[in-house]
Amino acid sequence: MRHFLCFSVLSLAVVINAFSQSQPSLKDAYKGCFMVGAALNPAQFTGQSPAEDALIKAQFNTISPENVLKWERIHPQPDSFDFSPADNYVEFGQQNHMFIIGHTLVWHSQVPKWVFEDGKGNPVSRKVLLQRMRHHIMAVVGRYKGRINGWDVVNEALNEDGSLRQSPWLKIIGDDYMEKAFRYAHKADPKAQLYYNDYSLENEAKRKGALELVRKLQAKGVPITGVGLQDHVSLDSPSTEQIDTTIREFAKLGVKVMITELDVDLLPWPGSNLTADVSLRAAADPKLNPYANGLPDEVQQALSKRYADLFGTYAKHCGTVTRVTFWGVTDKESWKNDWPIRGRTNYPLLFDRNAQPKPAFDAVIQRAPRPRS
Ligand code: GLA
Repeated sequence: MRHFLCFSVLSLAVVINAFSQSQPSLKDAYKGCFMVGAALNPAQFTGQSPAEDALIKAQFNTISPENVLKWERIHPQPDSFDFSPADNYVEFGQQNHMFIIGHTLVWHSQVPKWVFEDGKGNPVSRKVLLQRMRHHIMAVVGRYKGRINGWDVVNEALNEDGSLRQSPWLKIIGDDYMEKAFRYAHKADPKAQLYYNDYSLENEAKRKGALELVRKLQAKGVPITGVGLQDHVSLDSPSTEQIDTTIREFAKLGVKVMITELDVDLLPWPGSNLTADVSLRAAADPKLNPYANGLPDEVQQALSKRYADLFGTYAKHCGTVTRVTFWGVTDKESWKNDWPIRGRTNYPLLFDRNAQPKPAFDAVIQRAPRPRS
């Protein structure tokens, strides 16, 4: 019986592997244009999801950590770091020869309150917060020096109108906090690529703010390598023209452009503005969960078309766009099932709940530029 079980598990793994290998791959289809990646959760980088494991290895050549490198996870208390999940993540990337992303060092969200407060709950001084930021960055970037290849140094520092978000970082340190973060990261690992990452940069006002930010950093000689467009998009917004203009505008500043958190939301939006602000939450309502029992064919087709158009736009900028990363691997574990409303059934990625490629996967493969002979 034991032998039979072992044999079955083994043959299942062989079948999954053979299947994954017989499919075309995203990383090969876009070779010479940009890397293709996905954000991973711990089950995926510790071998606990065999079907996804095979898929990740076959399809992607770059990975991002969904949560394990965020401040609250890796540095929960002033004097204690929890490196072990991030160590597993980096080991997985190295074993599979992937370009490894660190996400993220300085953000207003998923950062513990103690970072900004003294023992009495009052805001700390600029000096203390800079010390804490430096300590965090030197410890985390330093630990993975030469292994994590690119860092989202600052995440989401802008408001929708392009002004600086009034985060505790800005309020306590002042508007040179980003400059400091980049300089500390560069000191900790001089060879790592360093990025500014944000959502909705396709909207003109916010884009202008980000362009201005990058120009100012560059004028001060701050080592910024690239800008990440998160691209948590919907079927019709932003338009591919907006995305195209955004890539062009950043490219003019000489920075690399990355699509860092791609997914396509197919569900009705509870409010009027599409943003990716993680603090947003809305109440459940069955009308807002229309595909709980499956995705209608016409929506499946619309998703394929949207993905083909997106990749067609990114591929117009091969080399300027250096990476396209999905925020998740399969629809099953996507954050879009729980945000901004918990417990919905969303279909935002290229692989379905059984880790099988969707028609959108074929559409993306077909849209790849033909290799020049
Ligand atoms: C933002 C962050 C990501 C992640 C997503 C939602 O885009 O940059 O780290 O939290 O929200 O999962």
